[in-house]
Amino acid sequence: MPSNALPPGPRGSLLGGSLRDFSTHRLDFFVRVAREYGDLASFRFGPRRLFLASHPDLIEQVLVTDAKHYIKHFGARMYKPVLGNGLVTSEGDFWLRQRRLSQPAFLKARVLSYAPVMSDLTRAMLARWHPGQHINVHEEFSRLTSAIALKTLFGLDDAGDREEFVASLREAFDLLSARFGDLVRTPLWVPTPRNRRTTRAIAHLYRVVDGFIAQGRARKEPGDDLLSRLVAARDDDGSQMTDTQLREEAMTLYLAGHETTALTLTWSWYLLSTHPAAEARLAEEWARVLGGRAPAPDDLPHLPYTDAVITEAMRVYPPVYLIGREATCDLELGGYRVKKGTTIFMSQWVSHRDPRYFGPDPDAFRPERWLDGLAKRIPKYAYYPFGGGPRVCIGNTFALMEAAILLATVGQRYRFTLDPNAVIETSPQITLLPTYGIPATLALR
Ligand code: HEM
Repeated sequence: MPSNALPPGPRGSLLGGSLRDFSTHRLDFFVRVAREYGDLASFRFGPRRLFLASHPDLIEQVLVTDAKHYIKHFGARMYKPVLGNGLVTSEGDFWLRQRRLSQPAFLKARVLSYAPVMSDLTRAMLARWHPGQHINVHEEFSRLTSAIALKTLFGLDDAGDREEFVASLREAFDLLSARFGDLVRTPLWVPTPRNRRTTRAIAHLYRVVDGFIAQGRARKEPGDDLLSRLVAARDDDGSQMTDTQLREEAMTLYLAGHETTALTLTWSWYLLSTHPAAEARLAEEWARVLGGRAPAPDDLPHLPYTDAVITEAMRVYPPVYLIGREATCDLELGGYRVKKGTTIFMSQWVSHRDPRYFGPDPDAFRPERWLDGLAKRIPKYAYYPFGGGPRVCIGNTFALMEAAILLATVGQRYRFTLDPNAVIETSPQITLLPTYGIPATLALR
């Protein structure tokens, strides 16, 4: 019989519970809760009851075994005004149908066909760079992965409206994110100044994306881009996605895909610039295997250290550091009763630093740890940068290939010298951003 008591955890303040800790220093808060209260802890955000699950078996139970009894948590649902019923935010039969329709576009063979776009756009970025130039690594890689996403998704070459698209997207997201910490949230239809700005930003964004979709449909030959593949996708009964579904899936793929990959590269470069021995070993691998040319997908299995660097960077700085689910019925977890409506958080930031699997120095960046079969020795849900179960990231093959191609193409030409006075700090929003970017100077390798 599961216990009716709550798992142990911090009491927090009378009104907000732990909301303030979450808003001001959530990464440290999660680590402290897990280390002090154990593998299953509980706390409150206002009236909302939350659990933090930090043992791989518990995470597997939520993400895999009991997946059908959970939906995405309230935080993920908050982005529905932008993402609509796209894959990240939809549920149930609707989600399953969309996932089935989208899956073929993400088969390995299809994903490999995007490699040339990734290399070409990276080379175009390198052509604009020069030695001695001062850059913000995060900005450069966000711009690059955004251009790659727009090209692979919509077949768009850096279109004129791209800047406008990116700006309105950022505005809509910043406005929606600001709501996350609100104790009392007014529905978006209430015309407060912030709500009005938010709905205007969303409407603007929709117009831009609908324009991309219309351009795609107007092309005589269907392109190789993801959107064309979604346009052509048919369910068993012959039905296809409507224009609204296409817009919501396209927005979702753009949003879910480009910033996460940019962050993988940004944090990788930061870690490499502060770990010269790892960087030297990486450069040696590229020189030996690639000899200066851009990597093709066939090269990737021959670049094990490149893979280990990316794996380790996503361990230390997981781009998605928090996943949440909400129970749709009364359930059991770790011997405790999970009442319907309870939110379960699982944090990659916490799990990826668990000394039981990554000790004795879990914070240290050591790509070598992955070279002797660690992935097979640890439980599956000790390391889960892409989530797991039916809702596992659909773009994980795409992301890993993109990260490896971009890292090796850029890294064979340039090194990044971190500014001596740079303040490097994490800013956990939806993804794990560097608060002040990563300021660095380019030097030829
Ligand atoms: C390093 C880069 C990436 C990371 C770390 C990442 C991480 C994740 C995680 C953790 C989830 C699961 C969220 C949850 O269970 O609540 C997820 C879902 C998803 N990701 Fe990614 N992702 C990355 C790249 C991409 C790319 C490149 C694309 C698309 C081109 C993409 C599209 C999606 C979609 C559509 C979902 C929702 C899948 C579903 O629920 O059916 N991601 N991602």
